[in-house]
Amino acid sequence: MTALKQTCAALLRDKNFIQHTWCDARDGRRMDVIDPASGETIGSVPDSGAADALAAVDAAQAVFPAWAARPAAERARLLKRWHALILSNQEALGSLISLEQGKPLKEGIGEVLYGAAYVDWFAAEATRGYGDIIPEAVPGRKMMVLKEPVGVVAAITPWNFPLAMIARKIAPALAAGCTVIAKPAEDTPLTALALVWLAGQAGFPEGVLNIVTASRERAPEVVDVWLADSRVRKITFTGSTPVGKHLARESAGTLKRLSLELGGNAPFIVFDDADLDAAVDGLMASKFRNGGQTCVCPNRIYVQDGVHDDFVSRLSKQVAALAVGPATHPDSQIGPMINARAVEKIERHVKDAVRLGARVMVGGERVRNAVADGPNYYLPTVLTQATPEMALSCEETFGPVAPVFRFHTEQDVIAQANDTPFGLAAYFYSNDVRRIWRVAQALETGIVGINEGAIAAEAAPFGGVKESGYGREGSRYGLDDYTQTKYLCQGNLG
Ligand code: SIN
Repeated sequence: MTALKQTCAALLRDKNFIQHTWCDARDGRRMDVIDPASGETIGSVPDSGAADALAAVDAAQAVFPAWAARPAAERARLLKRWHALILSNQEALGSLISLEQGKPLKEGIGEVLYGAAYVDWFAAEATRGYGDIIPEAVPGRKMMVLKEPVGVVAAITPWNFPLAMIARKIAPALAAGCTVIAKPAEDTPLTALALVWLAGQAGFPEGVLNIVTASRERAPEVVDVWLADSRVRKITFTGSTPVGKHLARESAGTLKRLSLELGGNAPFIVFDDADLDAAVDGLMASKFRNGGQTCVCPNRIYVQDGVHDDFVSRLSKQVAALAVGPATHPDSQIGPMINARAVEKIERHVKDAVRLGARVMVGGERVRNAVADGPNYYLPTVLTQATPEMALSCEETFGPVAPVFRFHTEQDVIAQANDTPFGLAAYFYSNDVRRIWRVAQALETGIVGINEGAIAAEAAPFGGVKESGYGREGSRYGLDDYTQTKYLCQGNLG
C-alpha cells in the first residue's frame, strides 16, 4: 500500500450512500479508480445506473419537508460539526485527494482547507437567510417576502477539485434547507465518498445527503433520471460547456433551476506599466496551480511590447525550475495530469501551436524519468509567438502550458481578450489607476484578478458570464442559488 493510501485508509469508502445506508449499485456493477501518477488501480466503487439514481431522489424527496422545516440554527450547527470533522481529518483527506487526483500533497491539504472554508461560510450564512417586509402600499395590507429552499438539489462535480467543488455545492444547499443527491466525477469518487461519510458522522439526518458514483459511460443514465424527475428542483454543475448546455436543454422539460460553472479561457494581461515581479509570481500561482487543471487558469497570456522579452525571460526561468513528480515526492510542484486523454489534448495543442509558428522556450513534451515515472506527466511549458489561429487560443488546454501572445495597445488586447465565447476569469497587471478601472470594466468575465493571481475565496462570488455559465458559488450571493422567493400578502388588517 502506498504511503498516501495508508494515511487515508480510515476514510476509504467504496459504496453509494443512499438513505443513510452504504450500498452497492442495484445491479452490482463496479468501476475501478485509477492512480493518475502510476496508472495502477487504487480501488473500486459502484458503477451506478438508473435504479440507484431514482433511489437517491426518493430518499432526498422523502426527508425534504422535515429538513426544510428545521430551524436554520440547527442546520448551521450540523454544518459546523461537519466543518470541524473535515479539519480534524485534513491530512487524511489531503492524501486521498492527492492519491486519486494527483496534485502534490501540499496542494491536496490546501484544497481541504479551501473546501472546508465554504462549509464554515455557509454554516454562518444558514442563519442569515433573511426575507423582507415591504412598506405598505394599501392601508390594512401587509406584504412580506420569505426565502424558501428550492427542494432536492442534484450536484454533479468535477475531478480537478474532488473535495472543494462538492463542498461548495453541498454546503449552501444544506444551509438553505435543500436536500442533496450528488454524483462525483468518475476519476475521483473516493474523496467525495469520504466527505459524505464525515457528514454522516456530523449527524445529518437520514436521506438529507445521498451520493452515487458512476463511470463516464454510465453517468448519462444517472443524470438522465435526475433531469427527467420533476422532484429534482435544481441542478448544480461544474464541468464543460457542452455538458452544461446539455443539462440546460434537457432540464427544460421540468424547468429546473440551474447553476453552471463551465469552461473558461482566461486571459492574463501584462501591461508595460506593470510590476513584472508581481506579474510573474501571479502567473506562476494561477497558471500552475493543480498543474494547470483549473477552470480559472490563465489560458492566454498577453504581454505588451515594452516588457515582453523581460517578462518571458523571467517566466521561463521560474517554469524551468518547477519540479514534476508524484504527490508522494516531497519536492513535487506539478503532478501528473488526470488521465491519458488530458495529456493527449495538451500534446495536440502544443504541436498545433508549433506548427503554426509558436516557439518553445521551456518544456513542450511529455516527461518520464526516475521521479515522474508514470504515463501522465507533461513538462511545464512556455511558448512565445502565440497567435489567435492556434487551438490553444480558443480551447482550454487544462495543463501546464503558458502560451505568450505579444500585444501593442490596450484597445487591441481588450478586443483579443474578449474574443471568446467564454467569460469566467481574467487577470491583468498594471499600476495605472485609470487603466485599472477601464480594463476591469471592459473585460467580459465574471471574475477579474487585478494585480492578483489567487482570486478564489469562500467570501467571494465565483462564477462566469457568456458560455462560462451562470450562478455564483460562495459569498453572500451563494445562498440565493438554492432559495426561491415567496411573496405573502396579508389583507384586512385595518
Ligand atoms: C475550477 O477549476 O472549476 C475551480 C477553481 C477554483 O475554485 O479556484
